[in-house]
Amino acid sequence: MEKVQLVQQEALKQVESCTTMDELQQARITYLGKKGPVQELMMLMKDLSAEEKPTFGQEVNQCKQAIANAIEEKQKILEVSAMSEKLEKEKIDITLAGYEPTLGTLHPLSMISQEIEDLFIGMGYEVAEGPEVELDLYNFERANIPADHPARDMQDTFYINAEELLRTHTTAIQTRQLENAKGQLPVKVICPGKVYRRDDDDATHSHQFTQVEGLVVGENITLADLKGTLKFMADRMFGEGREIRFRPSYFQFTEPSVEVDVTCHICGGKGCSVCKGTGWIEILGAGMVHPNVLEMAGFDSKKCSGFAFGAGIERIAMLKYGIDDIRNFYINDVRFLKTFNRFD
Ligand code: DAH
Repeated sequence: MEKVQLVQQEALKQVESCTTMDELQQARITYLGKKGPVQELMMLMKDLSAEEKPTFGQEVNQCKQAIANAIEEKQKILEVSAMSEKLEKEKIDITLAGYEPTLGTLHPLSMISQEIEDLFIGMGYEVAEGPEVELDLYNFERANIPADHPARDMQDTFYINAEELLRTHTTAIQTRQLENAKGQLPVKVICPGKVYRRDDDDATHSHQFTQVEGLVVGENITLADLKGTLKFMADRMFGEGREIRFRPSYFQFTEPSVEVDVTCHICGGKGCSVCKGTGWIEILGAGMVHPNVLEMAGFDSKKCSGFAFGAGIERIAMLKYGIDDIRNFYINDVRFLKTFNRFD
């Protein structure tokens, strides 16, 4: 019996110390194989008496079973650790850096628009937009340009049908905003948007371009308010110290109307190729909102007044960044667009 105990103890110890499947297999052969100690114990049976045989046999069988169980247990443990080792080895490092996506930047026209919007938001204006497919009513009629007015020829446009067209100017947003205000004062809006005209495209003309319209209506609004506002805008857009000059002009929706020049930001007013030697650069059209425009929108033109202006965003961008061809804004050449990375 002692021998059985000894064999079992030794075998279990051996099994326990196995660290690989091969070692375990070896231990199985050593202890449970035909020439192993368990088999040897079995052989001892024949020398025992009839009474001793069953107890001893049982003892040896239990020993054999215990070793087999231990081997099985150990096998499971080794299998699990082999699996986790394999998993560890084959692990994919998902934290590895992937391909960096190429990020775009804001389009230069969006940059200028947003810059102007921010500027005016800072002065208490609201940003207003309107439809690009516009009614003749808001684009022309309410802007004091009746159906038979020759001024329509200057803005020959894309008609959808007799009443609808692609808006020719952001003044259409202005007339909508005036109507929306329902006679309530003050109105202070800045209106950016795309506009369309049937033009032959070249370095300075495009059938689609971008404008921004400014409108203020209130009590006692004067041309001086317009001048102060535009001076502020010119300083911010082209650098401090700009001067503003009004030249008489004509628009149907303003009276008086002016063409606004600012001192050249390249030469400071001395005269250079950008300002064609004049020292001045024309940046926009403006004026005092025509009484007809106010009245048509439901305002009493005797009790209030307003100023408005309309600027071409492309023109401002071209002047500011020295771009010589307007088509650059639309052909989406990334080499051109990328150069605006630095203007965040
Ligand atoms: N709508 C004019 C244009 O497209 C620009 C303009 C001039 C807008 C004077 C105005 C303004 O609001 O007062 O050429």
